[in-house]
Amino acid sequence: MEIRKGAYGILESYGPRWVQARRFTLHILRDFGLGKNLMEQKVIGEVEKMLEKLEKIGKNGVDMQNIFDASVGSIINSLLFGYRFDETNMHQFLELKTRLNQHFKLGAEPIGALTGMYPWLGRLPILSNYKKATTDNWAALMKFFRQQVEEKLAVIDYDSEGNADYVEAFLKERKKNEDKEDFGGFEMEQLDSVCFDLWVAGMETTSNTLYWSLLYVLKHPEVLKKVYEELDQKIGSDRIITIADRNNLNFINATINESQRLANLLPMNLSRTTTADVEIAGYRIPKDTVITPQISSVMYDPEIFPEPYEFHPERFLEKGTGNLKKVVELVPFSIGKRQCPGEGLAKMELFLFFSNLFNKFRIEFHPDSADASIEKDFGLTVKARNYKVVMNKRH
Ligand code: HEM
Repeated sequence: MEIRKGAYGILESYGPRWVQARRFTLHILRDFGLGKNLMEQKVIGEVEKMLEKLEKIGKNGVDMQNIFDASVGSIINSLLFGYRFDETNMHQFLELKTRLNQHFKLGAEPIGALTGMYPWLGRLPILSNYKKATTDNWAALMKFFRQQVEEKLAVIDYDSEGNADYVEAFLKERKKNEDKEDFGGFEMEQLDSVCFDLWVAGMETTSNTLYWSLLYVLKHPEVLKKVYEELDQKIGSDRIITIADRNNLNFINATINESQRLANLLPMNLSRTTTADVEIAGYRIPKDTVITPQISSVMYDPEIFPEPYEFHPERFLEKGTGNLKKVVELVPFSIGKRQCPGEGLAKMELFLFFSNLFNKFRIEFHPDSADASIEKDFGLTVKARNYKVVMNKRH
């Protein structure tokens, strides 16, 4: 909060500010997603660009992490600021990604946790370098976001109908509230923080899940075979797969579900605070206690998911009919009032990227990655170790 200069944003804010920011964000996401279905068009646009690129470079072997990062990063950036990343501004994307990684690296260090809990420690000369690195890095991120906002401010038409992107919608709301104290919660500091939160929450999570799902499928040839069989039976050509196909591709949906369950992407979820005294299984947790709800205790519960550390997409299919089962214990987006507001977008991205990638290409490990590891590198999200794949067109 010291770095953010207040309880701004969505991820780490609380009370009325959080309610307002969350409601506004869900509203904008719905606006883009429903009606004209702009969100699907945006995602499919990125999928098509990725496929074109892979047609050129996939045969020689490619590490998909950077490609997923740039595609998913383009979707969130275009939702926020209205433009995507291509060869002309890729340096901007890479800088942003490096800065965000640096932010989490610094925050995850023990000194980060200590100065987070006791901000006055940051004033000790011995820790001042650490503090400076953190605040400089944050300032660079804010400078990038603010620059995009300034550019938008220079051209915005407050009377135009609809919104081109999140920032435009926010600035219009700010204008409506300009007579109120703190712009009714639509201050620039709030916009900076929300940009950060949506960028962080919306990029690495989805991109890493895609990277895990590709790895798990390639590690399980029997699953890979069934993915191709389903695509051949239900799609049967190299046409683009859309959301309209989703209910037809049960095995692919089950495979994505199983990848999300096994990857358990946010191993520690996010820390939250109890707003009232509660009692759980005989333990009393007082109001205002910091808690970390362990979604993995559900997703790895052997009574619900037998052999929980094995990759079995079939567990999400009805025996006999092969229909997709609704399993309420699959909770990678958490549950409750803080449940991920980006779930709809993330699920759309996972389905469209995964299904189109396998439909277009026969994919195998590059010989250098024949022993690709499924060990997890832990951070705020779990990362897979780097591996390369070779892709050849199927049709
Ligand atoms: C596979 C992808 C994703 C996963 C696994 C995921 C998972 C999560 C989880 C576990 C939380 C914490 C919920 C809690 O505190 O109980 C969360 C929060 C959040 N996520 Fe996601 N997320 C994903 C994608 C996205 C996307 C694409 C966006 C943006 C459009 C997004 C925006 C957010 C925000 C803003 C929060 C904070 C919500 C709040 O504090 O009220 N996430 N996400």
